[in-house]
Amino acid sequence: MIFEGIEFPTPPPYKIKMIEYTNLPSLEERRQVLREAGYNVFNIPSEKIYIDLLTDSGTSAMSDLQWSALMRGDEAYASAKSFFHLKDAIQEIMGFNYVIPTHQGRAAEYLMFRALDLKPNEYALSNQFFDTTRANVEVLGATAVDLVNEDAYDVTKEVPFKGNIDLQKVEAFLSEHHERVKIIVLTITNNSGGGQPVSMENIRKLGELAHEFKVPYFLDAARFAENAYFIKMRENGYQDKTIKEIAREMFSYADGVLVSAKKDGLVNIGGFIALNDKDLYWKIRQLMVVTEGFPTYGGLAGRDLEALAQGLKEVLDERYLQSRVEQVAFLGKLLDKNGVPLLKPFGGHGIYLDGLRFVPHIPREQWPSQAVVCAIYEHSAIRTVEIGSLIFAKKDANGVWQWPKLDFIRLAIPRRVYTLDHMLYIAQSISDLYKQRENIKGLRMTFEPPVLRHFNALFEPVT
Ligand SMILES: Cc1ncc(COP(=O)(O)O)c(C=O)c1O
Repeated sequence: MIFEGIEFPTPPPYKIKMIEYTNLPSLEERRQVLREAGYNVFNIPSEKIYIDLLTDSGTSAMSDLQWSALMRGDEAYASAKSFFHLKDAIQEIMGFNYVIPTHQGRAAEYLMFRALDLKPNEYALSNQFFDTTRANVEVLGATAVDLVNEDAYDVTKEVPFKGNIDLQKVEAFLSEHHERVKIIVLTITNNSGGGQPVSMENIRKLGELAHEFKVPYFLDAARFAENAYFIKMRENGYQDKTIKEIAREMFSYADGVLVSAKKDGLVNIGGFIALNDKDLYWKIRQLMVVTEGFPTYGGLAGRDLEALAQGLKEVLDERYLQSRVEQVAFLGKLLDKNGVPLLKPFGGHGIYLDGLRFVPHIPREQWPSQAVVCAIYEHSAIRTVEIGSLIFAKKDANGVWQWPKLDFIRLAIPRRVYTLDHMLYIAQSISDLYKQRENIKGLRMTFEPPVLRHFNALFEPVT
């Protein structure tokens, strides 16, 4: 493998205190595992996985300070000390009046869209909705509209803020339909589009538009610290600001946040809503007792709240963010140098391979990116995930598939879990596989679930 000329990433500001063993199953075993999993990698038992890049969500390694924070968890049912610690930590960074914990991000989405009473014929706008956010809009019969800038659809175009929403499109949409737009959700960084950041200017201007048209404006802020780091690196005027100052400014333009804390919260479970609108806050409080629990714990244990409060402080460490973003980019550069087609610039939380260029011989109807995901597992016991047709394709009124423009294989890098030698193994394995790509076969879907298809779909290889 070629890696001369590629700069090594900045080392992380921590050392390893505890390890977890992993297995590398044989080729024969991997083939059997894939068959038994119905060629859906969500069904592969994790003990059969050597390196797990399925997601960066809930897969972080916690620090010694977080593990000790667990011991301080106050398990009082209501108004526990741990809730107030978390509330203080969130308010310190985000500055919103009200904080509502939830068991994870999608619960925050569920509650918010129900509290806003989204209905058929109404809209929610975004740069790009993530799958669960979209699903939570669509189950209410409303329409989720993606208005990301056109560059986001050009896989190789290198622009600094490829996650930006197209403000002109937003203005045009609001001018025509603003009475029926119930919420704007800006995803930072844009996961569906490759972990691409959104600029401060875009966050601010979208806020101005939303307020002009009186539409609630929320950030889907699962990866807010990574977004803030990119702003510091790439946007004029932010080089001398701290990550916390940048984050605080980002949040100052919004009415609130929906957060999956399983990413930049550096915890294995958790989420929250934070907002300023008192009426909306009270609506959510009342809705959530049915599904999440009392508003001071939202489906979490007191110890989870403590670990999250600590994680939110740690994620602001610029040395950590630098080593994280550079580790991801290092993997991207290695793969790029070996000719593997991928999305540029490299995202904050992972590398996105371009499925359509990886296996151009596989037609869209045979799920090319999912075929590559399975081939990567078979080749090297690395689990990745499809972020493309399997998630986003829709059938039109005549039952004909409408394919999304982007079709990726996401290599999501868990936070503080894998080392540089893991990156070398991943790059070596995928580069080898790419050389033999003509041997990869397409897949036929044998079970098609109606909602969030990718989690439960089943396949068999096309012969
Ligand atoms: C941008 C974004 N929003 C929301 C979610 C949903 O969060 P959760 O998995 O905690 O429900 C995710 C999860 O990957 C995400 O990436």
